[in-house]
Amino acid sequence: MTLLVTGGAGYIGSVVVERALGRGHRIVVIDNLQEGHAAAVPSECQLVQADYGDRAALDAIFSTQPIDAVVHLAAETTVATSVSDPAIYFQNNTVNGVALLDAMRRHGVMRLVFSSTAATYGEPVTVPMTEEHPQQPINAYGESKLMFEQIIRWYHRAYGLKSASFRYFNAAGATESRGEAHRHESHLIPLILDVAAGDRPSVNIYGSDYPTRDGTCVRDYVHVSDIADAHLLALDALDQLGLDWFNIGTGTGNSVAEVVTAVERVTGHPVQAIRAERRPGDPATLVASSDRIRQVLGWSPRYADLDEIIATAWRWRRQNPTGYGD
Ligand SMILES: NC(=O)c1ccc[n+]([C@@H]2O[C@H](COP(=O)([O-])OP(=O)(O)OC[C@H]3O[C@@H](n4cnc5c(N)ncnc54)[C@H](O)[C@@H]3O)[C@@H](O)[C@H]2O)c1
Repeated sequence: MTLLVTGGAGYIGSVVVERALGRGHRIVVIDNLQEGHAAAVPSECQLVQADYGDRAALDAIFSTQPIDAVVHLAAETTVATSVSDPAIYFQNNTVNGVALLDAMRRHGVMRLVFSSTAATYGEPVTVPMTEEHPQQPINAYGESKLMFEQIIRWYHRAYGLKSASFRYFNAAGATESRGEAHRHESHLIPLILDVAAGDRPSVNIYGSDYPTRDGTCVRDYVHVSDIADAHLLALDALDQLGLDWFNIGTGTGNSVAEVVTAVERVTGHPVQAIRAERRPGDPATLVASSDRIRQVLGWSPRYADLDEIIATAWRWRRQNPTGYGD
């Protein structure tokens, strides 16, 4: 297939591109590089540096490239900012998304794999969370993604769009050549690795009074290459699926305090962790039920162990101490 990957210069997108190339797909990436890195995009791919909501840029791609399907990862992704400044989340994650869908329609491209998020669920009512769990987001990030999931439903019903939406839990880890290097890092594992590497004095643990086993938030960490592989399985199955949603998580939760300890164990370096106030918009526990994706797509994570996942991130970080060097 020829794939258009939005956000393909970003952390997860660049790994999706790497794995898709390995499967023989041709790739065009559209990324405005607000967070992504040109150097993360393999040289075999065309990188179009543009906003994915830009009609002219999209028309130019769709009219010159035989795009079979779109893998849509571009987004604003910081939960805490989405609470204080929701406008950019609805613009980038919802409004731009409609521009993308309409460009797809104009050019007769009717296959989409969409990066949604566990943040669409909100506070867990039952754990692990299945795809049928109520979706009541508690931050604008989750709301903006849920709105786009719902828009996809209508485009399926009215226009025959075929789509799989993946509700990722917490992406982590690295491949041999691609890892996590956000300009405005908010993700726990790279922040802790910075401390272990001596590049940051300490890391904050936001909230120690959650109803969890040690009071800190519990998350389900899933390796980035396992996430990428789910996309490839979905692309193969899209025509049969029609319209579907899947969690991507391992089904195992680790608390923030446990992640700090695991980083100390894997790296052999002490990590100073400072207990801070809760942040708005953080649910106490997010752990996936991954039964559906295993049963329907035959997916299973190659990395099921947190230490192994952290080890891949640590290796990439030591080999790339300045990230992508930009
Ligand atoms: N990282 C996680 O743990 C996680 C969890 C759940 C869901 N997700 C979703 O996965 C996707 C990828 O996340 P990530 O961690 O790789 O983030 P990322 O910031 O590394 O990647 C997003 C990419 O999209 C690009 N981008 C953003 N807005 C754009 C626009 N308007 N036009 C063109 N490019 C644009 C950025 O430059 C960046 O390269 C996002 O949709 C995110 O919501 C991530």
